[in-house]
Amino acid sequence: MYPNVRFKFGKNWNNYSSKIDQSKLHKAIISLKKLLPSEIDFTKKSFLDIGCGSGIHAISAKKLGFKTVCCTDYDIESVNTSKNNAKKFEYEINVFQDDILNSNINDKFDLVYSWGVLHHTGNMKKAITNIKKFVMPKGHLIIAIYRKTYFCPFWKKIKFFYCRTNNINKFILEKLFYSILIIRHVVTLNFSIFVKVERGMNLFYDSVDWLGGYPYESATKKEIIDMVGTEFSLINSYNSKSGYGFFGTGCAEYIFRKK
Ligand SMILES: C[S@@+](CC[C@H](N)C(=O)[O-])C[C@H]1O[C@@H](n2cnc3c(N)ncnc32)[C@H](O)[C@@H]1O
Repeated sequence: MYPNVRFKFGKNWNNYSSKIDQSKLHKAIISLKKLLPSEIDFTKKSFLDIGCGSGIHAISAKKLGFKTVCCTDYDIESVNTSKNNAKKFEYEINVFQDDILNSNINDKFDLVYSWGVLHHTGNMKKAITNIKKFVMPKGHLIIAIYRKTYFCPFWKKIKFFYCRTNNINKFILEKLFYSILIIRHVVTLNFSIFVKVERGMNLFYDSVDWLGGYPYESATKKEIIDMVGTEFSLINSYNSKSGYGFFGTGCAEYIFRKK
């Protein structure tokens, strides 16, 4: 791992931010709701989002009725973008800068959520150990982590190259990869991607996030269960089967309950 090589996630989230409208927020709410345990009464619960990016999922949590919502990101540009988006949608959210590997958070929360973050910290194992501390007894931990695939070593090299190369090469790589994704969707007759991108995201900014997302780690379902450890029970997971990962690996989603 090269500690000084990091993708500027915040810049990408800031660029994507202008695309967030009520329809994208609605899709983000649906994706978040799918992961939330149906038995919990949100209005009495606290929600923490680690690595909030644009803030769209923290805003979704507030819209779903969580009593308090807090979100953090390592990248100050993500923090500012999330603050601006919370203001835009008129929701009260506590947003601040924090590094999950060296966190200043002392509170515990009913639901701790971190989607597509812990594998980008440079030390996923430590990040998982740290995030567990924020979950209240009987609370829930929802994490999304890249699946381990055959192409993980290849993508890791591409991401490393992208983060270190000049802006012209970055531009070429972005357009090339985006075009490949479009062609793939057209060839497989998957036109839904043009109207509906999961979680309220946007195909172009998602593809840039994938290309640049370094540091990069991935894990199998078993590795994640082992890292989370025996104080938690896995109550559900989605998309956790490893594939080839030729077009990118995709995240598996895990829902744990603290014993
Ligand atoms: C792929 S983005 C996911 C953003 C958001 N969770 C979502 O689903 O849209 C990863 C985010 O993790 C943040 N991040 C990376 N390392 C981090 C760390 N050590 N502590 C907190 N956040 C971190 C990045 O700045 C980035 O905003």
